[in-house]
Amino acid sequence: MIYLDNAASTQIRDEVLSVINEELVNSFANPSSPYTPARKSRIAIDKARKIFSGILNCQENEIVFTSGGTESDNTAIKGPAKALENLGNHIITTTTEHHAVLHTCNSLEKQGFDVTYLPTDKYGMVSKESVLSAIKENTILISIIYANNEIGAINPIKEIGQALKKIKNKGSRFPLFHTDAIQAAPFLDLNIEELGVDLLSLSAHKFNGPKGIGVLYMKNGTPFEPLITGGGQERQKRSGTENIAFISAAAQAIQLAEDEKKQLYLKVSKLKNKIINQLKQNHPEIILNGHPLQSLPNIINLTIPNIRADDLISALDIEDVCISNGSACTSNSLEPSHVLQAIGISAKLALNTIRISLGRYNFENEIIEFLFIIDKILKRIKMNTPEIINK
Ligand SMILES: Cc1ncc(COP(=O)(O)O)c(C=O)c1O
Repeated sequence: MIYLDNAASTQIRDEVLSVINEELVNSFANPSSPYTPARKSRIAIDKARKIFSGILNCQENEIVFTSGGTESDNTAIKGPAKALENLGNHIITTTTEHHAVLHTCNSLEKQGFDVTYLPTDKYGMVSKESVLSAIKENTILISIIYANNEIGAINPIKEIGQALKKIKNKGSRFPLFHTDAIQAAPFLDLNIEELGVDLLSLSAHKFNGPKGIGVLYMKNGTPFEPLITGGGQERQKRSGTENIAFISAAAQAIQLAEDEKKQLYLKVSKLKNKIINQLKQNHPEIILNGHPLQSLPNIINLTIPNIRADDLISALDIEDVCISNGSACTSNSLEPSHVLQAIGISAKLALNTIRISLGRYNFENEIIEFLFIIDKILKRIKMNTPEIINK
């Protein structure tokens, strides 16, 4: 199999799998229980929290473990919004967010919140200026994706965060600033001081950890109403008996990813360039979506006019090659991707658009093989559809 859909999910690393097995056996006791084996479970969670806080450059008690990226995004937005609703009801986000943010904002709108969905430029990016000029007196929260999951566009989070810090230094505590760093995590800087964020979401399955475990960084003092109430775990922020094995595995995965960040960035950048150059050379009609430079090194989003993405994906699937036609959450939908629409791609061309996303387990030899297979398929589709060639 040639797996080129790493933005949807990544393969778990052996070292991470071992941690899951070990912790499932060794830390089975409920961490809230009052005896020695429970202490072992608590120590495992504390160790994981320390690893995340070290990488994010925050306090250990600012790390909240969740059930995944979707819950982290929901919590980051709904938690403060509910707590601040009497103070202000305006939220700013962008049109190219993941649905975990967009649908959360949509649901808050139904509850009386006023949401500004900032348009992006043709690359899927927002500018610091557009964010700052959208702020109103009653703006409580800004949520902007760090790097987009479909086109890889990287937003200027540091610039926006530092500008917001300056505004807040003059007195106001708001607006709070959240970023969905779920796709950015294995490649970009996660230092929350540098980024100037109050809230940041992560999901372990995007950096070779397991699915179903997420992290939310929440600055101490952030006004917050919990979404999940119960036994008061995670310092009252997220109740539920902790998933010790996956929490430990997520920490192991982020540590390994952090140690290899530079190498992985360079490796996938090289492979990305190889794919783009060869595809464009053999099929010059191909349109590259997203910014040529301000983009994640592992995501390639391409439109191949007159070639149906679904047909191409099925043909590649028969050859054991996995690619996608957008984000995994929307690829089953008949609606063209909201991200492609937001950057001005027509509904017709959106159906001709594919996403290839690279990861740790991709190597040059399989990329050469992939390029051979996709070239063969594209030539075959074009041959069987003479009207394409004549266009
Ligand atoms: C940018 C982004 N945000 C949120 C999510 C949701 O994360 P999870 O799958 O862990 O719920 C994803 C996953 O595809 C994503 O890419």
